[in-house]
Amino acid sequence: MAELDDPAVTTYLEPEDQQVDDSGVDEAADDVSSTQSISSSILRYRVENGRTYTTYGSGEYSLPTDEEEQDRLTDEHEEAEVLGLDLSPIQPSWFEVDDLEKPWMFKHPFDFVFIRSMIASFKDWRVVFNEAFKNIEPGGYIEVQDNVYPLASDNDTTKSTNILRWSELMVEAADKLGRSITVARDFESMLADAGFVDIVEIRKKIPMNRWPKDLRYKELGTWSCHMLRNGIEGISMGLLTGLGLSVEEVHVLLANVRKDLSDTTIHGYWDTYDTPLP
Ligand SMILES: C[S@@+](CC[C@H](N)C(=O)[O-])C[C@H]1O[C@@H](n2cnc3c(N)ncnc32)[C@H](O)[C@@H]1O
Repeated sequence: MAELDDPAVTTYLEPEDQQVDDSGVDEAADDVSSTQSISSSILRYRVENGRTYTTYGSGEYSLPTDEEEQDRLTDEHEEAEVLGLDLSPIQPSWFEVDDLEKPWMFKHPFDFVFIRSMIASFKDWRVVFNEAFKNIEPGGYIEVQDNVYPLASDNDTTKSTNILRWSELMVEAADKLGRSITVARDFESMLADAGFVDIVEIRKKIPMNRWPKDLRYKELGTWSCHMLRNGIEGISMGLLTGLGLSVEEVHVLLANVRKDLSDTTIHGYWDTYDTPLP
């Protein structure tokens, strides 16, 4: 079960006090510098008595975080067998290539199945959840995490923005392909229909950039902005040209979306659904 003080569990996100629209700033430099400061803070460490400790966050995590400790943790769970699955041979060597929408033919049942960021991938999530249910041993668990498009907001700051328009076009394009990107809000009912019980669903808000006042959300938003900025062309080109936009039109739209992505006067967030482990 997620902790109550989980930074991602909230109903209202307060924006940072801001009078100035900084959409005109050099968003690339802006994004790089905030990402760099996050990366460097994560990488900070101290060495004591020959062991390495992280100083990221409160710096209060008292166990070492070096290779020796990683070996100890791996040994502690050496009974665990982990199998990754992907349709394409693009993942690490412990992944197998498989289509999860086809009947699952594994030798042993799983005690835990984890599915993340698969919107726009599966045509029929019910098939996947039914197969998961058949292939999880009694008492086992499933965790599913994904975003919902279009961009959400609790005020009108996303109105008439390119990023909202882009995210709505993405919904239309994914629907046309029959691979919904709004499906995550139905996970709970689909899991129940597949036979799962005691389902706990948590809805999280992931800010589109560093607009929130709360420092933890600001960091979350910086990461989400960085990830979308890096991946936006890949996730958009096929879908949007499939909707009839030309490659040039997509490039122009994405240039404007990138500007919005760095604009902290736009208080958009991604609605995210999770069925966490108890
Ligand atoms: C957005 S990526 C997410 C990857 C990973 N789950 C993660 O969280 O980083 C979606 C992946 O799903 C894979 N995929 C798409 N359809 C699939 C299917 N029917 N069965 C298995 N993998 C599939 C794609 O090859 C792609 O690598």
